[in-house]
Amino acid sequence: MSEKVRIGIIGGGLMGREVASALGRWFVLEDYPVQAELVAICDLVEKQREWFRQIPTVKLITADYHELLASPGIDVVYVAVPHHLHETIYLDVLRAGKDLLAEKPFGIDLKAARSIAATAGATGRFVRCSSEFPFLPGAQRAYQIARAGQLGKLLEVRSCFHHSSDLDPTKPANWKRQVKTCGEIGVMGDLGMHTVHVPFRLGWKPKRVYAQLQKIYHQRPDGKGGLASCDTWDNAMLHTEVEIDGGDVPLRFEMKRLAPGETNTWFIEILGTDGGVKYSTKEPKTLWTFHRAKEQTWQRTDLGFHGPFPTITGGIFEPGFPDCFLQMWASFLAERAGKLGDRFGCVTPEEAVFSHQLFAAALASHEEKKAIAL
Ligand SMILES: NC(=O)c1ccc[n+]([C@@H]2O[C@H](COP(=O)([O-])OP(=O)(O)OC[C@H]3O[C@@H](n4cnc5c(N)ncnc54)[C@H](O)[C@@H]3O)[C@@H](O)[C@H]2O)c1
Repeated sequence: MSEKVRIGIIGGGLMGREVASALGRWFVLEDYPVQAELVAICDLVEKQREWFRQIPTVKLITADYHELLASPGIDVVYVAVPHHLHETIYLDVLRAGKDLLAEKPFGIDLKAARSIAATAGATGRFVRCSSEFPFLPGAQRAYQIARAGQLGKLLEVRSCFHHSSDLDPTKPANWKRQVKTCGEIGVMGDLGMHTVHVPFRLGWKPKRVYAQLQKIYHQRPDGKGGLASCDTWDNAMLHTEVEIDGGDVPLRFEMKRLAPGETNTWFIEILGTDGGVKYSTKEPKTLWTFHRAKEQTWQRTDLGFHGPFPTITGGIFEPGFPDCFLQMWASFLAERAGKLGDRFGCVTPEEAVFSHQLFAAALASHEEKKAIAL
C-alpha cells in the first residue's frame, strides 16, 4: 500500500478549487508512490465553502483556519489567499507542524518571504511554492534542451507570462489590483513566479536588473456602482543580465496584465548561436527548435502528453492547465516523500526569496531609472 497524504486547503477560491480538481483525479497517475486525499477546506465565505460539500473525502469544512490547523488528521496544507495574508497564515501552518504548498508570491514582499523561508527552516517542515507551467511537456523539453547546454553561445533568453483581460476598462477591480492586498510589486507578485521558475532552476540568477513598470488603468468599477482605485503595477518588463558559461546574457522577464490577445500565455525562448528552443502555451503541443547547419531551420515538433509523471491519458492527447497543475502536485508530494529522483521540482523557499529580491530591485530600478545590482 502506498502512503496516504491528507490535505487541507485554506482559501477555496479560484485556485483552491483547482487543487480539489487535481486531487479528485489522482488515480490518473500511474505507478505513483503516494496517495493524496483532500480532507479539509477553510474559507471565510459560505458560498465558497459550500462548493466543497460535493467532494466525499472532505470531512472538515470551516470558516476558521485555526480549526483546520488543529486537526491531527491533516499532513499537508495548501494556502491560496490574498497576498497580505500569506505570511501570517503560512507561519501558522508551519508552527502547527504541517507541511506547506504555498501559493505565489510567497509573501507580500521580500521581508515576508524571508520570514516564511526562515520559519520553514526553523520548523523543518517541507515547503514549496506553486508554479505549474514548467510541468507542461513543452516547458520540460525547453528546460532539458537548455540544461544539456548544446545551443552554442547563448544570445538571449525571454521568459514571459501575458494576460489580457485587464484591457477591458469595465472589468471590476479586485484584491489583485490594490497594493494593500496584492503588494507593492503588483503584477510581478501575480505573474512573476511563473516566469522565474525555469531560469532560476537552470541556475540563471540575474546579476543586474533594469525595470520598466506601467500602471495603465488607475480606476475600475468596484462592482457596487462606484469606482475603486487600482494602484498596482499592471505590466512589468525586467531586463536582466545573467552569467552563463562565463558570458553575460540578456534575460528578459515579462509580466503583463494588458497584452493584446493573450488570455493566459506562458512562454519561454532560449536562443543560442548553434541552437534554440521556443515553447508557448498558445500552441500547447508544439515545440519549436532551431538548428544551424549549412541551412538554418526552425523545426516544429508535435509533442504528446508526456509530463514528468506518467498518467493513463493517451500519449497523443493535448495537455492543458489542469494537467500541469496535477503534475505540479505530483512533483510536490513525490519530493516530500523523497521520491522525486531527477524529475523537475517545485519552487523552493530559496528561489521564492530570490524572486522577491529581484522584484524589490525592479521597484528600485524603476524608481531611480537605473539598473540595480543584485
Ligand atoms: N498558481 C497559479 O496559477 C495561480 C493563479 C491565480 C492565483 N494564484 C495565487 O493563489 C492565491 C489566491 O488567489 P485566487 O485567485 O485563488 O484568489 P481568490 O480571491 O479567487 O480566492 C481567495 C479565497 O481566499 C479566501 N480567504 C480570504 N481570507 C481568508 C482567510 N483568512 N481564511 C480562509 N479563507 C480566506 C477568500 O474568501 C477567497 O475565497 C494568491 O496567492 C494568488 O497569487 C495562483
